[in-house]
Amino acid sequence: MGQYQRHVFVCTSGKTCPTQDSKDVFSALRTAVVEAGLKDRVRVNHAGCLGQCGHGPMVVVYPDDVWYGGVRPADAGRIVGEHLQQGHPVEALRYVAPPGDNKVPE
Ligand code: FES
Repeated sequence: MGQYQRHVFVCTSGKTCPTQDSKDVFSALRTAVVEAGLKDRVRVNHAGCLGQCGHGPMVVVYPDDVWYGGVRPADAGRIVGEHLQQGHPVEALRYVAPPGDNKVPE
């Protein structure tokens, strides 16, 4: 096993996600991970554009390859509790799209 069981990437420096409060989503996820006692197993990182602009704030969990779109800070508790602790992705928040870029045209 590597240093972490899971990585959570939050798009915070692309063109559209930051305007949708993705930095608050990042902070809420990081806080929830610490509060859940998962700090040594789950790493929450900032990410640049994930190629899904307009569907954010965008979050992806690896190695699960589970994507979440339109995430709000208030969703952090569910993502951490249901997905990262219990292993069940939060279906209501799940982002499913064709492979590759799925940017909403500007
Ligand atoms: S700006 Fe977040 S996916 Fe592109």
